[in-house]
Amino acid sequence: MPPSPVSRHAAVTSVGHYLPEERLTNSDLEEMVETNDEWIRTRTGIRERRILGDDGKATSYMATEAAREALDKRDLDPDAVDVIVVATVTPDMFFPATACLVQDNLGAANAWGFDLSAACSGFLYGLTTGAQFIESGRAETVLVIGADKMSAITDYTDRTTCILFGDAAAAAVLEADEEEGLVDTVHHTDGEHGDLLCMKGGGSRHPSTHETVDQHLHYIHQDGRQVFKYAVTRMADVCVEVMERNDLTPDDIDYLVPHQANKRIIDATAERMSLPSEKVMVNIDRYGNTTAATIPLCLFDWEDQLERGDQLVLTAFGGGFTWGASYLTWAYDGQ
Ligand code: UT7
Repeated sequence: MPPSPVSRHAAVTSVGHYLPEERLTNSDLEEMVETNDEWIRTRTGIRERRILGDDGKATSYMATEAAREALDKRDLDPDAVDVIVVATVTPDMFFPATACLVQDNLGAANAWGFDLSAACSGFLYGLTTGAQFIESGRAETVLVIGADKMSAITDYTDRTTCILFGDAAAAAVLEADEEEGLVDTVHHTDGEHGDLLCMKGGGSRHPSTHETVDQHLHYIHQDGRQVFKYAVTRMADVCVEVMERNDLTPDDIDYLVPHQANKRIIDATAERMSLPSEKVMVNIDRYGNTTAATIPLCLFDWEDQLERGDQLVLTAFGGGFTWGASYLTWAYDGQ
């Protein structure tokens, strides 16, 4: 059963984004590792990704730019922000939290904030978390930001991972709405398979040493084939679970907003939900897998076409394992 209805809905009232200028294309990657454009396109759907580069800019920079754009579009002063949630697996540093750096960059004098680590499910977990503050009346304005500089933890000698990831940030403003907003959420965690997608080095188990660097433990490690098997079933299962417990038919759903890890996983999920491709947001071809940023980046790209009352199912699967799906109704008309 879905949760009982709340009187204050947590609605997305604005979205902003940041994409670095630099593009890393499939043909660029052909020069770096043994791969080819056709393999990457047919196995993943990716054509190019964005890279932030090495000039000292980090995740907090992209998160700040995305948040600033979201606030400006809604004519909100940074002082109006109560809470900042930054979902990321590539924080600028272990601490202070990236949310603290964003708070300072924005000059959001009245906000407190924290980082949330749920890999590719980060934005979805952040949305559920941020919504609690709005629904309970503890906050009026919450920023939920998905931001990852994946190039900082990608091994560009490993063809099985370096073709997948890109850098980006996107942010959503949450405010109260009497009718529209987050309706239902299902989340799951399964730590048993954490080793299939992880970064082993640099933490308290394997603090950084010359040896951990020599062993490339400071990079993403993924058993792609195994992760694919879990992702493709669990993402579809959780979407069907959300549809069933909210009595949603395929006709009721205006858009599926899936995490962008692999076009084949997205297609399989849409097929299980009986959704035609025009109802599925896909931008993996242009940005690759930007981890916590993929879902809000889709919302940004499709914002013009969205109308108040549209019914959206958001879904993600990622390292942990973490996965879930959220059902929300859109709160404003695109321009
Ligand atoms: O976002 C978080 C969750 N992550 C995911 O959902 C990702 C899930 N996994 C995937 O998307 C896919 O498993 C990958 C895209 C990572 C890999 O695709 P795949 O169809 O599962 O390929 P595979 O790992 O089974 O490898 C097939 C073949 C292998 O060669 P052999 O053993 O058949 O001779 C690989 O060595 O493709 C080879 N291969 C490559 N060939 C060209 C692996 N990477 C590449 C490459 N270029 N970049």
